[in-house]
Amino acid sequence: MREQIVIANWKMNGSTEANRLWVEKFLALCGDLTCRTAVCAPFVYLPQMTALLKGSGIEVGAETVSTRAEGAFTGEVSATMLADIGVTLALVGHSERRTLWGEDDEAVALQAERLVATGIKPVVCVGETLEERQANQTEAVVLRQLRAVLERVPADKLGAVAYEPVWAIGTGKTASAEQAQEIHAYIRQVLAAKFGAAAQETAILYGGSCKPSNAAEIFAKEDVDGGLIGGAALKAEDFLGIGKGFAK
Ligand code: 13P
Repeated sequence: MREQIVIANWKMNGSTEANRLWVEKFLALCGDLTCRTAVCAPFVYLPQMTALLKGSGIEVGAETVSTRAEGAFTGEVSATMLADIGVTLALVGHSERRTLWGEDDEAVALQAERLVATGIKPVVCVGETLEERQANQTEAVVLRQLRAVLERVPADKLGAVAYEPVWAIGTGKTASAEQAQEIHAYIRQVLAAKFGAAAQETAILYGGSCKPSNAAEIFAKEDVDGGLIGGAALKAEDFLGIGKGFAK
């Protein structure tokens, strides 16, 4: 059976105090974890998070990474540095990085390649805008975004693929369980066309206005293996409630 995963993406939120309280609450409430769980936090808090979550079974991830290996790149953080402080996964290609910081498919593929070279699992985010969906380009967009990464990284080195329709991120508009399943099945087909049976092992996560109240229905779909959670992951109890949404 494929691994089920929930990943928090805190984006540019948090403080040393808020993070400590979040972890305290999460660990007090979570009991035995029902699925693989990770928290992606801003770079500056990663050492704090790896220390707080040591031995808990909860992984710590980065939200992005440099395309460069090392050197005169002011402000950048390399995959080697992330590995050095115990980070085990990292998001690449989040739509906010693509649209607000101009990271294109080639940059995302390079980031994924750098991560894999250091043993960190990339979680590759893909997804269409509302205009692209309305123009029936969803599959073409997802294919283009995914292909760029798959040219450089084999499926068994991916932490996951996260399907995040841009129109559902932070908007309160969730894709229906059927819409999510349709694209997840398509993503699995793309993975299978390139990597055969290994595609059955790759986790495909849904992200976009996921909440405790809608997670179970979406996660129940055959090709949905978990979620990448933004706003609702800022509250430990909501993130936990989403993780408990696995009924498969
Ligand atoms: P929201 O859950 O806030 O819609 O964000 C989703 C997301 O972008 C996770 O990476």
